[in-house]
Amino acid sequence: FNVPTPVNEPVKSYAPGSPERKELQAKLAELRANQVDVPMYIGSEEVRTGKTRTLSPPHDHQHILGHFHEGDASHVAQAINAALGAKEAWENLAWEQRAAIFLKAADLLAGPYRAKINAATMLGQSKNAFQAEIDAACEIIDFLRFNVKYMTEIYSQQPPVSGNGVWNRVEQRPLEGFVFALTPFNFTAIAGNLPTSAAMMGNTIVWKPAYTQIYSANVLMEVFKEAGVPDGVINLIYVDGPTAGDVIFKHPDFAGIHFTGSTGVFQTIWKTIGENIKLYKSYPRIVGETGGKDFVLAHKSADPKAVAVALSRGAFEYQGQKCSAASRAYIPSNIWEDVKKYLLEDLASMKMGGTEDFTNFINAVIDEKAFDKISKYIDNAKNASGVEIIAGGNYDKSKGYFIEPTVLLTQDPMYTTMCEEIFGPVLSIYVYNAEHFETVLELVDQTSPYALTGAIFSQDRYAIEMATSKLRNAAGNFYINDKPTGAVVGQQPFGGARASGTNDKAGSMINLLRWVSPRTIKETF
Ligand code: SER
Repeated sequence: FNVPTPVNEPVKSYAPGSPERKELQAKLAELRANQVDVPMYIGSEEVRTGKTRTLSPPHDHQHILGHFHEGDASHVAQAINAALGAKEAWENLAWEQRAAIFLKAADLLAGPYRAKINAATMLGQSKNAFQAEIDAACEIIDFLRFNVKYMTEIYSQQPPVSGNGVWNRVEQRPLEGFVFALTPFNFTAIAGNLPTSAAMMGNTIVWKPAYTQIYSANVLMEVFKEAGVPDGVINLIYVDGPTAGDVIFKHPDFAGIHFTGSTGVFQTIWKTIGENIKLYKSYPRIVGETGGKDFVLAHKSADPKAVAVALSRGAFEYQGQKCSAASRAYIPSNIWEDVKKYLLEDLASMKMGGTEDFTNFINAVIDEKAFDKISKYIDNAKNASGVEIIAGGNYDKSKGYFIEPTVLLTQDPMYTTMCEEIFGPVLSIYVYNAEHFETVLELVDQTSPYALTGAIFSQDRYAIEMATSKLRNAAGNFYINDKPTGAVVGQQPFGGARASGTNDKAGSMINLLRWVSPRTIKETF
């Protein structure tokens, strides 16, 4: 058995007047008008605790999309029990049947659920239609289809050598215990990928999404159920982090965590797992993608327009809330005036507002906490010497959490916004002496503890080779003459090392192999 290599799901354009735009607009109106009551999903139960919290669009925070029911430590324990209870039947199901379930989920998202998952992401997470389409439709569909392909390859691997009278084989067992999926707000696709990739390999899951992604997580769960994921295989709970962690990391059947989120939280988790290591049956799998401080470096031979477009798109798509977002740039003095001109022109064309108006490129940041953190960086920059705000700088949270795309020009390449992850629409630029490329390579490598994505722009092959070699460890996804965001499943496996994570490459066989624990069997006759 094997499945054909998938093609990436084509991205729809939502052009004015197109049938897909009309369908999406109707779905947005329908979702805005009908409040949802979102339960937790534990085993076969929809759990409503009565302790509800509101779900609102970040760009229109007084509007209520619905409520979700928050749980406590007892629900975490119930979810673990449900996962452990469902395990035997799930891992003994032929993997072809597990594959069929996830391929069906992909087809449901590509067809009947496409408008709903996109609309839920646009409203719940404030993504414009295009950003929702490449994430909540195409990327999760690709994750499911490509992961099924990698899964079939893992199960069809060549067995080890066997001699006369001996048969050696390797069995790809699921992990012993349950897997915890702790997922972020910024990609509906990542939220869907973390539980499903581990589940595909025969594991059962406790899934805790960010509270700010629950609105679209609920739609994903609807799809997984309709596709045939059995009760208890993926249990979706809404419990605050410390409460959930306290139950999960003290459980002897904790077998692994699939995480995307902040570096700080990941380091706390790693430490907690270490402290509890004697409790567990096996050393847990720890797979995490965390922060980034992603760079765009231009060489004096670079095309200024291409650099400007990479900066405006790479830094400000989804308000800079991508771990891959371009947030620090190093531009040589000889092309700076041209880069600046094109960048400011492009920014001037970017309208800001709610996601329901498809002409808005910039929407709101995710919540008040993010708004306050990002606006503080901007305020500090306004008061710093040697730092100039050349675009944006204004913000307003009266209706939604809106922050203008903001560009800072700094004379100090070590200024805080060049080094710290802001996770918002703030780009910092350092203009360097065009003849000092080698010094800047050193600087780019040393400036940030992260190593997720980065880009070099150059028309000079020697400079490209030098940057590729010197920045070998500075990015897990390295782009030559392209922006550092928008990795495509099956084409650019995604992830970084250093403080950016364990680099287990989402949407790859490397990642799926973390969710099995092989057993070698030797039989003699
Ligand atoms: N995969 C996304 C990107 O490349 C980030 O998670 O932009």
